[in-house]
Parts: sequence; C-alpha cells; structure tokens
Amino acid sequence: MCGIVGYVGHRQALPIIMEGLGHLEYRGYDSAGIACYDLERQGLFIEKEKGKLSELSKKLEKHSIKARVGIGHTRWATHGEPSRINAHPHADEKRSLVLVHNGIIENYAALKADLQARGYKFLSQTDTEVAVHLIASHLKEGNFGTALREAVKQLKGFFAFVILDKDDPEKLYVFRRSNPLVIGLGKGENFVASDVPAFLSHTNRVLYLEDDEYGIVYRDKVEIFSLWTGKKITRKPVEIAWNIAQAAKGGYPHFMLKEIYEQPVILEEAVERVLNHRGSVYFETIPRRINEWFRKIEKVFMVSCGTAYHAGICGSVMMEQYARIPSHTQVSSEFRYGDPILSPKDMVVFITQSGETADTLAALREAKTKGALTLAVVNVLGSTIAREADAVIYTHAGPEIGVASTKAYTAQLITLVFLALYLGRLKKVIPDLVYKNLVDAVRKLPAYCTDTLQEDRLIKSCAKKYAHSRNFLYLGRGYNYPTALEGALKLKEISYAHAHGYAAGEMKHGPIALVDHKQPVICIATESKTYEKMISNIEEIRARKGIVIAIGTKGDKSLRKLAAHFFTIPAVPEILSPILTVLPLQLLAYHVAVFNHRDVDKPRNLAKSVTVE
Ligand code: M6R
Repeated sequence: MCGIVGYVGHRQALPIIMEGLGHLEYRGYDSAGIACYDLERQGLFIEKEKGKLSELSKKLEKHSIKARVGIGHTRWATHGEPSRINAHPHADEKRSLVLVHNGIIENYAALKADLQARGYKFLSQTDTEVAVHLIASHLKEGNFGTALREAVKQLKGFFAFVILDKDDPEKLYVFRRSNPLVIGLGKGENFVASDVPAFLSHTNRVLYLEDDEYGIVYRDKVEIFSLWTGKKITRKPVEIAWNIAQAAKGGYPHFMLKEIYEQPVILEEAVERVLNHRGSVYFETIPRRINEWFRKIEKVFMVSCGTAYHAGICGSVMMEQYARIPSHTQVSSEFRYGDPILSPKDMVVFITQSGETADTLAALREAKTKGALTLAVVNVLGSTIAREADAVIYTHAGPEIGVASTKAYTAQLITLVFLALYLGRLKKVIPDLVYKNLVDAVRKLPAYCTDTLQEDRLIKSCAKKYAHSRNFLYLGRGYNYPTALEGALKLKEISYAHAHGYAAGEMKHGPIALVDHKQPVICIATESKTYEKMISNIEEIRARKGIVIAIGTKGDKSLRKLAAHFFTIPAVPEILSPILTVLPLQLLAYHVAVFNHRDVDKPRNLAKSVTVE
C-alpha cells in the first residue's frame, strides 16, 4: 500500500521518478506527489495532487525542473482523506526535509500531541507528518544519521521511508521496518522503490534492506547500517530475473487481461521447472534439512489473504487427499490473533503473491516463534515473507500489476498441486499409478488452459447480458468451492457488483432465498465425486427460475441443457480442475467490469499489496 520511489544520479530525476511511480500506481492511487532538489533555484521543488498520477503529471507539465535527486509517492490513504494536503511528500517546518512513507505509524497521535505541545505546526491529518517533524527535532542535536535513528526508535508500527535533505542534496536516506523497500543499483545512479518494477527498465541489480536498517543512497554507492547498533552492514546485490516487458501491457487494454492470457505459459514453465523427465517433483529452493523436516510433519496449516486464501483452501484439500496430512486453512488476520497451537511437527504454508502482506507476515512471525516449520509460497522474489520463512517455493508468475490477482492464483494452485504430490511421495501414500496419471494430466494443463481461454467470445456475450445485474451468486463444491469464492471476489473487486461465493451444499441453508428470475447463479459442475449433488443444486435453482451460468466439462450435454450459458473445460482429474474453472470466471469478471466502464487495473479503494493491517 502506497508506492515510494527515489532517484539519485546523473540524469534528470523527475521523468525517472514519474516513470517509477507509474509502475507502482497499483499500490495506491488516490493522490500522488514528488519532491526534488531544483538545481536552478537551489532549493526543494514539491508538487502534489489529489487523484491518479495523471493529475500530477498535468501539473508538472507547467514546470521545467532540473534535478538529479528526488523522491515520489503514490498514496493509498490510511490517516486522513485523499487530498492534496494529505498527499506525500511531507516536509518539516523549514521545508528543508521531505519524506515519503509507506505503512502506518501506530503511536502517531501521542507523538503528534507531544510535538504540537513543543510548538510544531502540522498541516495534514497524516501519521507521516509526525515522522518528518520528529526527525527535524532530533536534527537540532546531531547529524542526519543520528537524527533518523533517534526518531525511528520512537516510532511504533510498520513503515518504510525515503528522505531528501535540502542541505545535503547528494544523497537519499532510506529506512524500513516490515514494509518493503528495495534499492536498485545502476551505473553512476541509484534507485529506491517499494517494488522492483519501478526501476526495472534501468537495472535489475538490487539490494534489499532488512528490518530496522537504514541506508544512505549516493549516486555511486550505497551504505547500509543497523538501526540499533549503528554498525555498517555489508550486503551482496541480487539479480532479479524479471524484465521490463513483463511489467508492460504488451498491447492489451489492461494488465488484468494480459495476465489472464499469460497463464498457459506460466503453467508450461512451472511444469518444465518442477517436473523432471521421470515425473518426479523437484523444488530447487528446498534444502535437505527442510526435506528431513517435511518427513516429520503431522499437520499443515495454510495461511493467506484474499485470492491467496482461496488457493490455500484448495491446497488443504490437496494436502489431505494426496499427502494424507490433516490440513486446515485460515485467513492470516484470524490466524495471527487466534493463539494457534503449533509445534515443530506442524508446517504452516504462507501463500502470497507480493510476499509483503502485513497480516501474512505477522502470522509467519507468530508461527516461527512457536517453532513450526514455515514454508512460503511466494511470487515476488526476495520479498520479506520469502526471506523470513524457513523455506520458500517461488511461483514464478512474473510481475502481476493488475490489482485483481489472476495469474498469481493459478501459479499458486499448480505449486500446491506439486507440493501435495511431493509430500505424498515422501510419505509413500500415493500409489504409483495414481501419481503417474496425475503427472501425465499436469503436463497437458498448459494446452488445456489455452483451450479454456478460447471460450472468451461466449463469456463476453454472457457478461454483456448480465453486466447491469447487481447481485451474483457463485456455487461450487470440493476443489471448486474456493473457485466459487474466487469468482465472486474477482467480480466484486473490479465491477463493484455484489457477488457471493458459497459451498453449493449450503445453498438450502440460506442463499436459496435470493434466487428468482433475475438472479444469475454461476455453478461450477465439472466431473467430480459431487457432480450429481451439484446437478441437484442446479435443478433447485431452475425450479425457482434462477439464471444458471454453468462451468462444466466439455461434452457434458445434460448440463448444457440445464444452463442458460455454458462454458467448458477439458476433462481433468478433480485436483487440477480449479486451475481451469477459474479462467472463465476471471474473464467474466473482466468483461462485466469493462461493460461498466470500471478502472479494471486500479479498482476503487483497493491496493495491490496490503502492507497495513
Ligand atoms: O500479495 P498477497 O497474495 O498476499 O495478497 C493477498 C490479497 O491482498 C490479494 O489476493 C487480494 O485479495 C487481491 N486483490 C485479489 O484479487
């Protein structure tokens, strides 16, 4: 939540900062701002605007600023409404220091009252302004590094900062605690950002700050220090295997659509990376020590948020069916406050696209203190959760920019299939033939994914018909119960229609009251052990004149007859079906949102990475 950017180097800073903010706008888009050291006027130039980045761009057109150092911010409001005054950067009273912030300062109210009592004047309602005044107050007593350290020691919460000092405009100061901050290393120039795509067109060599470290970023070097000891830290740069083309729309009208169509390739790469020619699963990032630990695991928890939570529900069913390990799924915010009973015989799997979600990170730390094995299933390389877990399996979906998660979800699902098969084999509970048949089916998935996406024309015309319905019901069972939840989440987050996902067996316990001739009901009824039950549910909906939109298996003539609209997937083993059944639902949500003229990639009130509680 919120995107922060910094640049120091030999080129014009403003275009680079604005380009970086453009790549981070998915993290927040209710206001934006920049500050840089204006070489001609020998002072700070600050500009901010309410609304999307394009509003700020329009304002900047009127200025021609020469600057080699600057910072920028795109905001997702936490404290204080979206407005120009609350937009970052925030400055101290002398307008000598400017700061951009991502996160929450939990004790800001008490600190603000104290600063006000000491005569400091506040302009905004943000928690951020406290940080800049606090640093300025300590600056009276020492140098900048000391002032930053002393100020940060007083702050509670999770935050990352980038700070520019007018009196020393050759460098940027950076700090992080639990919120992401990456330093990009260029030649004669360096970059700072909340996420790598912000500077990926300039460099893929990065340095990660750890918690409670601060850094000084010069154009030709970076120094990192510990907050608590003040000692200098040596850190090796990492090369990120992403390229800028992956973070661009590539001719698609929206990132979401591009990401939906990337899924066959992501599945193909997953199959190539994880399965060897004999069909054995191999995870390159799992060391022997963790493998030995895997053998002792007696219980698995899947912990995650949003779409990743839906992947977790599937993962638990997979784990119980194929690895025969009892498994339970919980959302991160409930898990972390629930005092979970854990021991080293438990494994907690944290599923997350960003690897930075605040609740999932806190849940991971809770599980670690209780001695459980922590495994991260993460997309973003080098993210905090990936680094802090005992072991990580990357999902390698590439950068996901659309706020609505699509390709990251199917990449999580295939990874969880591999994990269940891997543990099932390790524990010797999967018969060889069952394993072989599953692996054969997995190899066909990328082609099946392409086939399924070809239903797009039909899906679009269905979306057009119901685009103005305000209520949608999604029903599924077993592996496709989470698909129902995910389909409903996709629709509501980008089209703002109300959509509810239900386990179909629960329909008679309440939701059936909603069904009438105007109610679209999306029913997932592919081949499975509960297929007949699902058909009975569909009959019950039809008896009440509900509009059945069915997702079924190719060639299922009887289901076709029951449905007003029918989308198909190729026949696959049940465990693989959610990887395909979600595709029509992603497309349906996309088209409904487009017909409603919604901002598909940046839906209102949402941010891609939820780094506050
Ligand atoms: O980065 P994470 O996977 O941890 O994010 C979890 C959720 O915030 C995320 O899946 C969210 O629900 C998406 N907007 C869903 O499309």
